[in-house]
Amino acid sequence: MKNRMLWGSASAAYQIEGAYQEDGKGVSIWDKFANFPGNTFLNTNGNIACDYYHRYKEDIALMKECGLQTYRFSISWTRILPHGKGEINQIGLNFYIDLCKELILNGIEPMVTLYHWDLPQDLQDEYGGWESYLIIEDFLHYAKICFDALNPYVKMWIVMNEPNIFTQLGYLLEKHPPKKNNLSLYLQTFHHTAVVHAKTVLMFKENKYQGKIGSSIALTPAYSLSNKKEDLEALSMFRATTSDWYLQSYYKGSYPKQALIYYRLAGIEFETKKEDFEIMKRASKHVDFIGVNYYQSACIAYNPIDGVGIGQMNTTGIKSTSGEFGVPGLYKQVQNPNLTYTDWDWAIDPESLTTLLLELHHKYHLPIIISENGLGAFDEIEDGQIHDPYRIDYLRKHILACQKAILHGVDIYAYCTWSFTDLLSWLNGYQKRYGLIYIDFEDDLQRIKKDSFYWYKKVIESDGEYL
Ligand code: BG6
Repeated sequence: MKNRMLWGSASAAYQIEGAYQEDGKGVSIWDKFANFPGNTFLNTNGNIACDYYHRYKEDIALMKECGLQTYRFSISWTRILPHGKGEINQIGLNFYIDLCKELILNGIEPMVTLYHWDLPQDLQDEYGGWESYLIIEDFLHYAKICFDALNPYVKMWIVMNEPNIFTQLGYLLEKHPPKKNNLSLYLQTFHHTAVVHAKTVLMFKENKYQGKIGSSIALTPAYSLSNKKEDLEALSMFRATTSDWYLQSYYKGSYPKQALIYYRLAGIEFETKKEDFEIMKRASKHVDFIGVNYYQSACIAYNPIDGVGIGQMNTTGIKSTSGEFGVPGLYKQVQNPNLTYTDWDWAIDPESLTTLLLELHHKYHLPIIISENGLGAFDEIEDGQIHDPYRIDYLRKHILACQKAILHGVDIYAYCTWSFTDLLSWLNGYQKRYGLIYIDFEDDLQRIKKDSFYWYKKVIESDGEYL
């Protein structure tokens, strides 16, 4: 395959670091939320996680052995600013500087996410965190500290990780902190993330930091369940209020008219300022790439006004336990009879990734970073080995889907598997495993290479020829 796509893997601070109270780190919303009984699967939390904070050199040595060319990780805001703002905690900042140096020493390019959901609790308490315009100034302050300290080492920056998912789960579906169900608030918080993204991109460019910058959106391309008019209309509204809403605001600086009209007629309001859109538009002309997190596609059907809402989420890994869910009067997400599903009921659909990449390319004319792609599964140790052909199969098909898109002209800077090691899956605990490296959470957090590790090593060595 001829391209300059970097081969990588990804993670997030809360899901791997542990050391949640060490070296002056402050409390994040996830530290508090996951330590409250009943919020997560079997009350799992990231207090220790993979203890990456202490063992990152061991993990980076494994990354080197695998041949990773880039590694995406996120910064924990509260390690650097324990209260979200104010004095810098230099020990926290040094951790990330050392981490970058270690990666570079091992020939791996750091790719840094500024925000992967672990908001400082103090900002949530003071003004509701993402609910307020006040978040913008605090975020810019935090971002500037990271840029100043890490710019010598980092050439790829992701401002936001999946703003669509954390606002939806936190403000619409009552699953993430602060567990609310309020459509206006969801739109409001998402809007603040869009302004934060835009202002951070502009600040980065105005200060002439070196490197590329963008944000990552979780994208689920959608089919309609049938060709009935009401299902097709539901699909159209699903797109307008989800993927188009996220992409157009981040990458064009406006919201889709179809969705705006719907919200206006339904009396659902959120506050925006004229200058927000000027800034968002300006930023969209300077952003360097679209970050794509791709796991699954969606199947959409008509949902009557008294139809399903939040629905049941499968956090146990017991197949077919998630129910239909949606927005009454607009759409619902249902099982696609043409696809197979993971144990957590996620549709496996590599073909949709090619379609998605082509669509993004033609609509937004920007390069892409596949910032996450992977399979959450149960893995078993057998005689000290982990045979995970299902993961290899999933990754192979999705890499092929990327290669197909590249052949059609899509520019992909990097492809990151989710994840390098097993880690905490926010609501699903430690049994939903994504890594190329198995972590034995029962035995001293031992790291064991899975079959997928050896396979990915060969893929990288051959630059995608061996699949
Ligand atoms: C993405 C997140 O939504 O998907 C990751 O950016 C997350 O942090 C991944 O772990 C898989 O989701 P889950 O819920 O299975 O952990």
